[in-house]
Amino acid sequence: MSDTNVGGTLELRDSRTGSAYAAPITTEGPEGDTYIRAGDLKQVKRGEPGEFGLLSYDPAFMNTASCKSAITFIDGDKGILRYRGYPIEQLAESATFLEVAYLLRHGELPTQAEYDVWVHDITFHTYVHENIRKFLEGFRYDAHPMSMLCSSVAALSSFYPNAHNIFDPKERYVSVIRLLAKLPTLAAFAYRHVKGLPTIYPDNQLNYGENFLSMVARMSEPKYEANPVFSRALEVLFILHADHEQNCSTNAVRAVGSSHVDPFSAVSAGIAALFGPLHGGANEQVLRMIKDIEHPKNVPAFIESVKSGKGGPKLMGFGHRVYKNYDPRARIVKKLADQVFAQIGIDKDLEIALELERIALSDEYFIARKLYPNVDFYTGLIYRSMAFPTDFFTVLFAVARTAGWLAQWEEMLDDKEQKIARPRQIYVGHGERQYVDPLTNKFPRAHKDVLRK
Ligand code: CMC
Repeated sequence: MSDTNVGGTLELRDSRTGSAYAAPITTEGPEGDTYIRAGDLKQVKRGEPGEFGLLSYDPAFMNTASCKSAITFIDGDKGILRYRGYPIEQLAESATFLEVAYLLRHGELPTQAEYDVWVHDITFHTYVHENIRKFLEGFRYDAHPMSMLCSSVAALSSFYPNAHNIFDPKERYVSVIRLLAKLPTLAAFAYRHVKGLPTIYPDNQLNYGENFLSMVARMSEPKYEANPVFSRALEVLFILHADHEQNCSTNAVRAVGSSHVDPFSAVSAGIAALFGPLHGGANEQVLRMIKDIEHPKNVPAFIESVKSGKGGPKLMGFGHRVYKNYDPRARIVKKLADQVFAQIGIDKDLEIALELERIALSDEYFIARKLYPNVDFYTGLIYRSMAFPTDFFTVLFAVARTAGWLAQWEEMLDDKEQKIARPRQIYVGHGERQYVDPLTNKFPRAHKDVLRK
């Protein structure tokens, strides 16, 4: 993708040399994003031989765009999230998860015929090689399901060696299909392993979400029938989690994928990134925090410990790098949570959650820092109501986010401007110094074997 609308110039003067420079300002996209190319700073030099030129320093990419993307749009101040231009509220209301996965990959909603092929292909690939099931059996009974998911997705790469042909459209398509199809199977196998229950194989008569619930929850009944409220709730949560532009795990998938490794390996890197408590792992941490609080009467003291600052606990499920007003996903999930809670009733943990939310939303500390409930505050509560164990929550997030990771991975591969991701650094270590043997205080070091004699 190239810059489409160059308008204006950023003029810079280097006070060290008095030299003036100009960097074109580009405005691009329907929302009018403006930027300069960091590479234009390279021309700013003192004039010393071999000098690299001026770098921009931006830890955690706080103000650096690493790509141009046409997939997901977020306006953090206005609380807007759109996939391919469609508002998340409309997709959550009316679409299916596989329709959204198609939209993310292809850029347009499918026609009925396209949708049928897409669903057929994904359904056809839900089974995994028996050795993958045996591989999962090798994990300890208390293994974290995210570790199991991450390693089994990486292991799939060895079952499909042709997947490394990432520029062959057929191979790429089948890898995308396999990943979307097998993630629920692997996730459910991990669940059954941890529970000590026999594996339930995919039922290809069921839809994506129902089949997943069947593999997780079916016992002796010949045909699994999902609770329709739970099945729709899962579909909506999958849609909300399907993509979120350049977040930590997507950035990991793009960075690893930029080495042109196969997509199974790249997606397993995304799963590893998602596992962290500051990212997808937050939904699990919300529940752990609620367990630690124990009773609604302890909420004010907990909030005080959060406000005490550095070193104290964080209010998990609150705050977001991009949303500084509200998280539009959280609004949808809150409504969904109310429907699910109406079915199963409110218990002590939910009371704690609601009290936390109430106090935090009216407390100056959180208001001043623009900390609002994010999607993870409520998703954990819904998953818990559906009887999913706490350490399984992030796995559900990973199943859904696979759709976004794959769309972003393909966009990166097809972007002619992208190369292997390789950030610069500001070196702050020692200058050159001579090696001195710590034993003899001499240079060069005597060989250890000689010393031993
Ligand atoms: N509880 C208490 N204080 C907080 C929290 C929180 N959850 N989040 C941020 N702050 C404070 C932070 O200490 C800082 O205060 P001060 O200015 O006094 O130093 C201020 O708010 C700004 O925070 P920040 O760390 O600069 O914000 P960030 O953009 O780097 O971090 C975040 C974003 C999501 C990592 C952070 O808000 C956080 O750790 N939240 C809890 C974990 C969580 O819920 N993560 C899920 C994110 S949504 C799912 C996803 O997309 O991954």
